[in-house]
Amino acid sequence: MSIKTAKLFVNGEWLAGDRDTVPVENPYTGETVGEQVIATEEDVENALQSAVNAKHETADLPAHKRAAVLKKAASLLEERKEEFAYLLSSELGKTLKNTRDEVSRSLETLEQSAEEAKRLTGETIPGSTSTRGEQATAMTFRVPAGVIAAITPFNAPLNLMVHKIGPAFAGGNTVILKPAPQTPLIANAFVELLIEAGYPKKAIQVVYGGVEVGQKIVEDSRTNLISFTGGLKGGTDISYRAGMKKVLLELGGNAGTIVHADADIERAAGLCAKTGFSNSGQSCISVQRIYVHTSVIDRFRETLTEKVSVLKTGDPLDPETDVGTLVDEAAAQRVKSWIEEAKEQGAEILTGGTINKASLEPTVIFNPKKQAKVVCEEVFGPVVSIIPYENLDEALEEVNDSDTGLQAGIFSNSLDVIKKASKVLDVGGVVVNGTSNFRLDHWPYGGVKNSGIGREGPRFAVKEMTEMKMIVHLDS
Ligand code: SIN
Repeated sequence: MSIKTAKLFVNGEWLAGDRDTVPVENPYTGETVGEQVIATEEDVENALQSAVNAKHETADLPAHKRAAVLKKAASLLEERKEEFAYLLSSELGKTLKNTRDEVSRSLETLEQSAEEAKRLTGETIPGSTSTRGEQATAMTFRVPAGVIAAITPFNAPLNLMVHKIGPAFAGGNTVILKPAPQTPLIANAFVELLIEAGYPKKAIQVVYGGVEVGQKIVEDSRTNLISFTGGLKGGTDISYRAGMKKVLLELGGNAGTIVHADADIERAAGLCAKTGFSNSGQSCISVQRIYVHTSVIDRFRETLTEKVSVLKTGDPLDPETDVGTLVDEAAAQRVKSWIEEAKEQGAEILTGGTINKASLEPTVIFNPKKQAKVVCEEVFGPVVSIIPYENLDEALEEVNDSDTGLQAGIFSNSLDVIKKASKVLDVGGVVVNGTSNFRLDHWPYGGVKNSGIGREGPRFAVKEMTEMKMIVHLDS
């Protein structure tokens, strides 16, 4: 494979020159597949100024034109599905099965963003309900927030980038994109595609670099809103640095799923095997803690172990592979040490647990201690834990006993159980008869507690990324 260069895109120009570069490695083979150009302080300054300069032009672009650009981008992506999937797999180690799925989802996210560009409406509010307002009428409109800093993660780098750029542009904003350092090539390819689709060249800036680049963008007064997906540490730092700017944060979690006594065990085990290991568990809603009623635990544990042990681990570019690598070897080492910790504390490893460079065999742990890291922290790896419970209240309490609350799942055939779980689970979304890891891209996505602030999903994000403006008319 030829080496690709992810260049900066500032003020409508692709930039490389003699700037510093950092290699991009395929985590499976260790081969260098590309390089990213690191932004200088001056580049970041120029990007911020260019974003501000383009604000009015972008805001004035009629909604139907913004929609048309996003639709065109979706159709170009449809044509290049395979190319994008291969690129993503080679820089991230995510399997082709998963990257093909991610590209298809990205396409939908683009299309839905295009539709939302045309649905930005307001309302007319008569003043006559107030004695002081008999002659008055108010009208509301949505106006762009302005310059949006989009700071995106490595785990679903294409779709989560589209979840920010799509609604931002639909709402008439300009964007400064800072992609994850591990996945710059897909960012470069996507921005090239956007420009080809007719996206105004100066309405998007792309800068690569370390935390100092992100910090400058977040702190600068020319940025109006920050949309970040990543870890709690990064999210907290952004919140602190952003001051009075609006901040949208999609952070992580240690998602719980409950398998109740009356659940369809075959279905529950099948979905846990699929959604606890897709993308090597590197998803904020990946199934991590599975609470299983004691009356069905033997059958569940046997069925799940059987299904997980046949998952094929290996080369992400092999279309048959189910579980690729983690983002890098250090991540695999960290997760491995958490598995060892659980084992030392008395947990049983039902399958998996070994690593080979950045690959970690899909792992099922039985009955880890509550304080084990695989239970109380976010694993972000191909590891699930089965934890027994006697009664539903106890399981609900356990799922809620977390600083985070993004999504949770419950398997049961009882309406009472489902109603109770839906009410009690303290999360952004409850999935009934499915696991925590189910998301359609037009649904509201976001969490409570330390899982973040705000909601993604084009319809919701476009609201977050626009301000309500009121115009009042008084009869003279
Ligand atoms: C995430 O990790 O938050 C993304 C999950 C998804 O979009 O499926």
